[in-house]
Amino acid sequence: MSTEAAADRSLITERLRTETRDLHTKAEKAPLQEALVKGKLPREVYADMLEQMLLVHRELEQAIREHRPDVPALSAVVTDEQFQEPYILEDLAFFGRDPGSITALLETREAVAEIRRTAREEPLGLLGLHYVLEGSNNGNRFIAKAAAPAMGLAESGGLRYLLPYGDRQPEVWGAFKENLAACELSETEKDTLVEAAKRMFEIIFRVHSGLHRAKMAAG
Ligand code: HEM
Repeated sequence: MSTEAAADRSLITERLRTETRDLHTKAEKAPLQEALVKGKLPREVYADMLEQMLLVHRELEQAIREHRPDVPALSAVVTDEQFQEPYILEDLAFFGRDPGSITALLETREAVAEIRRTAREEPLGLLGLHYVLEGSNNGNRFIAKAAAPAMGLAESGGLRYLLPYGDRQPEVWGAFKENLAACELSETEKDTLVEAAKRMFEIIFRVHSGLHRAKMAAG
């Protein structure tokens, strides 16, 4: 392998993409995601999902705001536009849901605890957690196309979380990756990001599974 290829392989953006590939495949195949893509997820369950994701995003984004001043990679990569909490609130208002009366699922409470632990013990890891949610916007564009008609949604309402940047999605993701790749990170710091990203894939998988279970239990 040439030195250049070896260096490329350790590029943090490459490491994140390749080392979480299997987890992405697993996440895509979660029953809730499959139902969403097939246009078979009831609108009310989609709104339930937004409620749980609000709690996850709120915790993570608050922690990132707190740690941005002292973690250079967070301030270099995470812009305010990437905070999804306001977009979810827009959608919840559209669905007539009250963000003040959400009951967190067990899996969501575990997610919040894990975000808090990361913030306390290794704040750089917050960037790895955030990478997963920000990256998921790539797939969300396709999901929106498939799911929106089935749920009776249009860009005028209910789709802001799936399409936060509209046509600017590739541009926003490109800037995210470019800024991340430009960060000076030691191999240990890269490991921290990759491990945090892996944990976030598992966290989201569990939240989605918890929602699916709750929905099945409700019949
Ligand atoms: C059925 C569900 C899903 C579909 C169809 C899907 C599809 C995609 C597609 C097409 C891309 C772009 C690949 C590329 O251009 O290289 C992508 C990227 C990504 N997706 Fe998904 N996705 C799904 C679910 C998820 C979920 C649930 C998560 C998070 C838990 C997620 C996280 C990511 C991340 C982090 C990336 C960026 C990978 C990278 O380039 O570093 N996806 N997805």
